[in-house]
Amino acid sequence: MILPIYTYGQAVLRQVAEDIPTDYPGLGELIDNMYETMDHAEGVGLAAPQIGLPIRVVVISLDVLKDDFPEYAGFRHAYINAHIVEADTSDTEVITEGCLSLPGVSEPVRRPKRIRVKYLDEQLQPHDEWVEGYLARVMQHEFDHLEGHVFTDRITALRKQLVGKKLTALTKGRFACNYKVKPARR
Ligand code: NI
Repeated sequence: MILPIYTYGQAVLRQVAEDIPTDYPGLGELIDNMYETMDHAEGVGLAAPQIGLPIRVVVISLDVLKDDFPEYAGFRHAYINAHIVEADTSDTEVITEGCLSLPGVSEPVRRPKRIRVKYLDEQLQPHDEWVEGYLARVMQHEFDHLEGHVFTDRITALRKQLVGKKLTALTKGRFACNYKVKPARR
């Protein structure tokens, strides 16, 4: 089932999301719905707060990048109770990001290239690993959603000024996009 995506200005995007118990009711169905919602909106990642749930569940699908990054062919994973526990801040890079919750906004964001993450996979197996490459970038963007952050929190003061009007328009529901959304106001 395709769910509406909550957009910038919705309070749930500013909440710190909670870990869930492994017997969380309907978790499999929730993950399926998140995949379907992400695919429909042509995103590479979706965090549960973006569908209105302040819980630590994320889906990431990088198959669309396989022409540039063959290692991501078929890459499609869910991350449950996901946390970034460490980041190598000595090595950062700037990449332009966008977000399904901020349609029409894309901005360069500086982030570490390598992070250490802890999570449960879809089979509820625990992982604790260092991640790098484009996956580390997408994970940082998505896991940020679980801390109540969006990518525009991390852009320069100048870029924030330049994008301010667009953000205000988003909070008022004055934007267009080709997938189902739930704006703060409209
Ligand atoms: Ni996002």
